[in-house]
Amino acid sequence: MIEWNGEHSVGISVIDEKHKEFIDIINKVIVAKQHDNNPEKIEEVLREIIDYAWNHFRDEESYMVEFCYPEYQYHKEEHLDFVHRANSYFKIVTSGNYQILNEILEYLKRWLVNHIQGTDQKYVECFRKNGLK
Ligand code: FEO
Repeated sequence: MIEWNGEHSVGISVIDEKHKEFIDIINKVIVAKQHDNNPEKIEEVLREIIDYAWNHFRDEESYMVEFCYPEYQYHKEEHLDFVHRANSYFKIVTSGNYQILNEILEYLKRWLVNHIQGTDQKYVECFRKNGLK
């Protein structure tokens, strides 16, 4: 299981709370894997991933627009890639292929490192300068 730690934090509480939810989702995928790839659990967690992405990315992007964040377009493209990938995993799972959980888990872990600990960190200065704490 993955535990939240300082490396995951962007130091802005409203964003950190959402990223903690992402780690909870990764842990649900780990649990689903341990339960013999239970199809209902896998579909449930994929729905949760899609809902999460929709809500969290919308919130982050609206801050970027409001604060005129210069890397908004690039950041938004990474979000879009995630949404496309999550939708494609959902289609694969609902078509009856439940063996893809390992790939999903690896993808989510990479997102944690590359996006949350990488791309998201880049907006911190801009968000803070505009009053987010
Ligand atoms: Fe926290 Fe850019 O996703």
